[in-house]
Amino acid sequence: MTTGRSKIILVDDNMANLSVGKNMLKTFHEVYPVLSAEKLFECLERFIPDLILLDIEMPDMDGYETIRRLKDVEDFADIPVIFLTAKRDEGSELEGLNLGAVDYVSKPFSAPLLLKRLETQLLIASQKKALKRNNDDLQTTVLQKTKQVTGLQNAVLNIVAELVEFRDSVTGGHVFRTQKYLQFLIEQLVKENVYTKEVAGWDMDFVVSSAQLHDVGKIAISDTILNKPGKLTDEEFEKMKTHVLIGVDAIERIEATTAEHEFLHHAKIIAGTHHEKWDGSGYPFGLSGKSIPLEGRLMAVADVYDALISERPYKKAFTPAEAEDIIEAGRGVHFDPVLVDVFHPASGRFTEIVDRYREETRQDCVFRQQRIAV
Ligand SMILES: [Fe+2]
Repeated sequence: MTTGRSKIILVDDNMANLSVGKNMLKTFHEVYPVLSAEKLFECLERFIPDLILLDIEMPDMDGYETIRRLKDVEDFADIPVIFLTAKRDEGSELEGLNLGAVDYVSKPFSAPLLLKRLETQLLIASQKKALKRNNDDLQTTVLQKTKQVTGLQNAVLNIVAELVEFRDSVTGGHVFRTQKYLQFLIEQLVKENVYTKEVAGWDMDFVVSSAQLHDVGKIAISDTILNKPGKLTDEEFEKMKTHVLIGVDAIERIEATTAEHEFLHHAKIIAGTHHEKWDGSGYPFGLSGKSIPLEGRLMAVADVYDALISERPYKKAFTPAEAEDIIEAGRGVHFDPVLVDVFHPASGRFTEIVDRYREETRQDCVFRQQRIAV
């Protein structure tokens, strides 16, 4: 099996050896003879050969030092090097091979042997290149497929979240806006170096998009409770509270069917803890302070803010300024005080999100979420 005409640089300080070597190889390959390591490196600035035939004993820089320098440069490190040597001994051969040479050829050259050794190494090198290309192609394909699957998964989750929202009588866009508030709050945490350790381990896209499932458990709550035009009775409120654990259970069931865990991990935390309160008076577990996961503490601010500025059958919509005051009043009671301190000076951005997305129809939001997800 031949590898075709390849570019070979032949390095030897002896002009006669260069001439003999070139004559032996020129019928089959493009040969570039050079008299020193210095000339070799000059040559390498112009092109990358398929193989280097390198004399070991040379003045100034010998073959060992030359190969060391070649291996130090990323662009040259993969060029196969065959050492040329007048006398062979086990120690020096081993040293050369340890430094990364692929083979040894003794001088004086035997034309058939030199050609055979060259062909073998050129073939190995071309197979390595092909393998690397295939691996790169495979990686690209896997990435594309993963992106497609993630896009599809997100689109399905968007629809599920929107279906929950359609059943509820809250203003359209709640799911979309809460994701936007959450994203903004996390960006503020990063900017102000707050909760750095927790946030550093997060994939922002996963955390933000997982928030859309925060109320997925509402799918199991009856319409009469969800859309009751008035305050819920204690019994109804107890029923409503079950949406949290129903949501967690639903996400756990999805978790059991997929290898993807990071997105669902955040989704489960947010669904399970977004109604907990800093002072321990929330539900379902009555967690308090930092025992409430940060995702849940963040979602509490986003969720409550959006509920406040939205009109419900049983209440009018508060203005953004009123909503800010209510959030501020809940500092250290309902909400993590640190998050309120981050929210408050930046609350203008929440108002911008409301202004931008309040008038959107629910359908617009679905389509936008799909575009973002894909
Ligand atoms: Fe909820």
